Amino acid sequence: MHAFSSEKRREGKKIGLVPTMGFLHEGHLSLVDKAKEFSDVVVVSIFVNPTQFAPNEDFSQYPRDEERDKKLLSEKGVDAIFFPQADEIYGPGYQTYVDVTEITKKQEGEFRPTHFKGVTTIVSILFNCVMPDFAVFGQKDAQQASVIKRMVKDLKFNINIIIAPIVREADGLAKSSRNIYLSEKERKDALILSSSLRYAEQMILAGERNVNAIIMEMTKQIAKVDTAHIDYVRIVEIDSFHEDKNLASGKEYYILIACKIGNTRLIDNQLVKVISEKDLAI
Ligand code: PAJ
Repeated sequence: MHAFSSEKRREGKKIGLVPTMGFLHEGHLSLVDKAKEFSDVVVVSIFVNPTQFAPNEDFSQYPRDEERDKKLLSEKGVDAIFFPQADEIYGPGYQTYVDVTEITKKQEGEFRPTHFKGVTTIVSILFNCVMPDFAVFGQKDAQQASVIKRMVKDLKFNINIIIAPIVREADGLAKSSRNIYLSEKERKDALILSSSLRYAEQMILAGERNVNAIIMEMTKQIAKVDTAHIDYVRIVEIDSFHEDKNLASGKEYYILIACKIGNTRLIDNQLVKVISEKDLAI
């Protein structure tokens, strides 16, 4: 990987990296398109990273389809696939971790306390292997993207982080490798994530600024779905992930939801910009 990237860099080419865990869908492929906008050479990494899964999570079941992924990526015209084996990344005696300490604590961090340390560690390793100029992450994992941005700033990685919008199914469900775990009924029930987010967005556009009122309404809607079990519904400022009590004009927020549908844990979010009443009047 180093030899490939060093040669491209010597040729003056800009390298874009799209880190993934494989089992690719259109969400991942949209990141490849985004990477192409910014770079001459696009590298996609595929690595199901064991250190970001807790022992009780789905690491061993996580869906994998190497051949299909390779076919999709070659059809997309990516320049290289970086496909390391677990023992090449975490060899014997491995003991080095990257830990972003604050914005990893809440939201996903409350429910997956070891997750982000695994993510920032593998992403640092991938950055060092691929040596990209750009790396593209999806807004689908909004907290992950903000954690990576923080890490890049703090550790002075010379890499531009680009965040690409969420790709959804026609009915609104955010695309995810984990959607294949859903039964037919659960697949329908899972629409409550995107529909409650849209409802909340409408409340905010209509002038609601009280975060609790919005969260309570979403919770009420989700409670009507018998397979749904909420981990959290929150509204956070997009960079700090701070949870304000009232939404402030001019600021951007993510409405975040993490919810189990049956045994499948799904996350989704909606970006909202709060417009001041003065601007609304204009
Ligand atoms: P994975 O879940 O495979 O996702 C890879 C990238 O695709 C992430 O940046 C994610 O936000 C983005 N993505 C997933 N679903 C999307 C959708 N519906 N629309 C747009 N983008 C979407 O996230 C990871 O892997 C890992 O944590 C990783 C960063 C690779 C580190 O192991």
